[in-house]
Amino acid sequence: MDLFSYRNRILHCEDVALPALAEAYGTPLFVYSQNTLLHHLRQIQTAFAPVQPLVCYSLKTNPNVNLCRLMYEHGAGFDVTSAGELYRALKAGGTGHRIVFAGVGKTDAELRYGLENDIVFFNVESEGELFALGDVAKSAGKTARVALRVNPDLPPKTHAKTDTSVKGVKFGLDIDTVLEFAQRAVDHEHVRVVGLHMHLGSPILSVEPYRQGLEKGLNLIEKLRQQGHHIEYLNMGGGFGINYKKQEALPATAFAEVIVPGVQKARCKLVLEPGRFIVGNAGVLVSRVIYTKDSGGKHFVIQDAAMNDLIRPTLYDSFHRIWPVAPAPGLPAPPEDYEADMPGTRLSDVVGPVCESGDYLAKHRALPPVERGDLLATFSAGAYGMAMSSNYNSRLRAAEVLVDGAKHRLIRRRETFEDLVRPEMEI
Ligand code: LLP
Repeated sequence: MDLFSYRNRILHCEDVALPALAEAYGTPLFVYSQNTLLHHLRQIQTAFAPVQPLVCYSLKTNPNVNLCRLMYEHGAGFDVTSAGELYRALKAGGTGHRIVFAGVGKTDAELRYGLENDIVFFNVESEGELFALGDVAKSAGKTARVALRVNPDLPPKTHAKTDTSVKGVKFGLDIDTVLEFAQRAVDHEHVRVVGLHMHLGSPILSVEPYRQGLEKGLNLIEKLRQQGHHIEYLNMGGGFGINYKKQEALPATAFAEVIVPGVQKARCKLVLEPGRFIVGNAGVLVSRVIYTKDSGGKHFVIQDAAMNDLIRPTLYDSFHRIWPVAPAPGLPAPPEDYEADMPGTRLSDVVGPVCESGDYLAKHRALPPVERGDLLATFSAGAYGMAMSSNYNSRLRAAEVLVDGAKHRLIRRRETFEDLVRPEMEI
């Protein structure tokens, strides 16, 4: 479900018409629906309620501190992958007892920062990390809690750049050798292995990888316990897919049906790290058409959002629905089911102003005719949109607005030219 809908042919976010927001805040503009975001968080909380999970919002997905605060206030914790993300989690009101820390390359300073804040555990991905953590914990006079992140070596399940549980990627401990490694950690004075972690990849549109991952995980937990580790947590990571195109994603209940019995069998507390599922369809990117042109037998719609605002289409060949915010009377209604060649549309490349041929939001896309000045909405842009944005071509990063019913608030202002050069030294 999302709360973006056309009313009298004008796209609204909840009760706010998007043209009014574009007028007030300019474009490109990320617009988030608070009630969509909370609805998705609640769906996960409800589906997994029988095992009372710790739902740690994966902050990398959209780190705006206002969104994080909202999630924390509604019961979520945080999955962080850097000191910067931990800083944001704390700034959003988060406290260590709802924070887990992942990532293959945590520095000593990051490990110390996590320890100082008494986080639930570190997802540890290598032997080197475990012993570095032990040293840092010793010097801090603490004992670090750890979940071993294992790579369960499953068949490919999503885009190669975001598949984290196939053999040969940098993530996790090798499932074939993890037990030998765990044996060496049994008597560590400053590290306690309390959990098992796996994040399978993102986005995942089937329950099968979770079923396969769990099977391997349960077996490992048994063996870790035999070694003498007190395993209290099973962290199944994130990865739940969303509807980018049509109704391709599964509801949270489908994942729960597979994961909940496994967790009960393992007698563990469940941790989840969802990101995209919560915030992906809670956001759209609103842009304005600057020019249209025909060249080389193609029709180009040049608008003011670019690869620096939403890099997913060019980086992962991702599909994002795009439709005019206010289609003129007589133009086709936004399709339920997105197929090429709809009557009244024309195949277009939707591109931005950045100096790269890879700068596009969509290629060969059926779009109603649009003109200079028209607004476009790129859907499902709440996850990994702003989070992966940059200043490439010295473009100012977009503003972000949060809508709640008929209210809207700016939660990140548009950058200024001064912001661009502020960290640079005058020499
Ligand atoms: N936990 C860990 C350890 C992760 O690495 C990730 C995502 C998540 C949780 C959250 O996954 P989610 O629930 O959002 O699927 N930039 C790519 C996605 C990269 C995902 C990185 N890790 C994209 O735009 O599709």
